[in-house]
Amino acid sequence: MIAVNHLQSYFKTEDGLVKAVDDISFELRPNEVLALVGESGCGKSVTALTVMGLLHRNKTVLKGEILFNDKSLLDLPPEAYRLIRGEKIGMIFQEPMSAFDPLYTVGYQMLEVLKAHTNLSIEKQKQRAVHWLKNVGIPEAEKRFNQYPHEMSGGMLQRVMIAMVLMLQPEVLIADEPTTALDVTIQAQVLGLIRNLQKNEGTSVLFITHDLGVVAEIADRVHVMYAGKIVEKGTVSQVFHHPLHPYTIGLLTSRVVKGKKGKELPFIRGYVPRAYEFPEGCRFHPRCPRKLPRCEHDNPPEISLETENCVACWLYEKGESA
Ligand SMILES: Nc1ncnc2c1ncn2[C@@H]1O[C@H](COP(=O)(O)OP(=O)(O)OP(=O)(O)O)[C@@H](O)[C@H]1O
Ligand SMILES: [Mg+2]
Repeated sequence: MIAVNHLQSYFKTEDGLVKAVDDISFELRPNEVLALVGESGCGKSVTALTVMGLLHRNKTVLKGEILFNDKSLLDLPPEAYRLIRGEKIGMIFQEPMSAFDPLYTVGYQMLEVLKAHTNLSIEKQKQRAVHWLKNVGIPEAEKRFNQYPHEMSGGMLQRVMIAMVLMLQPEVLIADEPTTALDVTIQAQVLGLIRNLQKNEGTSVLFITHDLGVVAEIADRVHVMYAGKIVEKGTVSQVFHHPLHPYTIGLLTSRVVKGKKGKELPFIRGYVPRAYEFPEGCRFHPRCPRKLPRCEHDNPPEISLETENCVACWLYEKGESA
């Protein structure tokens, strides 16, 4: 569905180039949920925004390739990108308030989206919008349709946003921490919703989270990011039962990756370095309990093992388990 090859997303800032995403490659396959996991600041959202074409072109340096059904997205003119966004690739953001204009009812905003992307009559548009509000579990959908964003709780608004994205039935859904702001029951509902969508409609989902519990619940495969790079790829069961990269092992031991920027994880000493001062060599080496001398100056390549998993770590240079 989507193939990302050697993608770099750098920000031009006063402090120099911020290498938020630095040479990552992955593919999102048809009909799967792929989770991208890692600590705060490791580049998950920047990856999503790059795929969606939402980064400011003058303030960023983008290199590499993003293919969507074999079409190269980074070369698209803004107008063509806008059509793909929403219709073909939908995105759910962490903060629902930012997706709405406080001055208009949510129904009005849903109709605007349908008007831009479909040829449906007003009547049919309204039916479709209300249908999707019901689909995401919103009671009294007709009444909610006519309400303003501030009349709804965060969890409710989050579901409206999800309905607004799903009603276009995108082929790919990118969900960036869609449940972080929700309480546990609603979180479970939303996860169920996304899972069903993937099962029933065959939607491919890129699911971004720092929560390993959520990964276990929803994903087929998982990629672990650290400091702008993907350090490990595998199926959920491989990564959870036989983690390879010392960072992944640390994450699983710490279990809860959640936390504020700059907070130390129980089993990984130190902090994620800031994106304009990444260390030479393997970016994890200052925190790594199994560091080798070469890790300080040589960046490890992605090493494919016999099974489907890959790891970027010198410990696996000879291919055997370390
Ligand atoms: N517009 C920007 N200009 C400069 N630096 C940025 C910009 N947006 C993000 N960054 C930096 O890029 C790095 C990656 O940020 P990103 O938002 O992708 O992290 P994340 O993995 O999504 O973290 P979180 O879990 O907190 O959402 C961070 O160091 C961040 O400070
Ligand atoms: Mg983020």
